[in-house]
Amino acid sequence: MSEKKNLKELEEKMLADKSLPLNEGTLVFGEGNPKADVLFIGEAPGFYEDREGRPFVGRAGKLLDKLLEETGSKREDCYITNVVKRRPPKNRDPLPEEIKAYKPYLEKQIEIISPKVIVPLGRYAMNHFLDDGKISQDQGKIFWWRNILLIPLYHPAAALRRASLIEDIKNGLTKLPKLISGYEDLLKKRLEKKKLPNEE
Ligand code: URA
Repeated sequence: MSEKKNLKELEEKMLADKSLPLNEGTLVFGEGNPKADVLFIGEAPGFYEDREGRPFVGRAGKLLDKLLEETGSKREDCYITNVVKRRPPKNRDPLPEEIKAYKPYLEKQIEIISPKVIVPLGRYAMNHFLDDGKISQDQGKIFWWRNILLIPLYHPAAALRRASLIEDIKNGLTKLPKLISGYEDLLKKRLEKKKLPNEE
């Protein structure tokens, strides 16, 4: 089955899952190229995302679009989603139990899209991958998560509050084209290193 069809099925499964918290709000499943090389993951939808049913369409999203354009990436080539896929009331931080409830769906979404690079935006998304990660220390650094490259960046909403973070986000986004084109090589090197001693 195609990635698009699998994503549609997953979205329908989520809509039918009445056990998910924040169930009264709009499901903001995610959007973009189902075969994207780059997957952006934010925290949770806000007011405008809830209203439109699309991720990153408010002020933070506009900033992300601008920075993508300035660094040579196109939003429509990527896929964009969130850890928690419904808006927490009054945009409060997502609760641990909300993150936990939505986690299997995010995992499945990642499996279907199978990106080369994941960009977690902000600490909530980063902590899905790096339990002990600290965004101020780890943003812009490159990690492996399973066989996917990971580059956590500051959340654009944080950069709306603190303009000095914009340059950090831009520096990270600038690395994306090279990470995508170098992915096969980097993975090969990683797998070679993983060989067991008796296989050398
Ligand atoms: N902030 C997020 O984390 N996600 C969105 O979709 C919008 C704002």
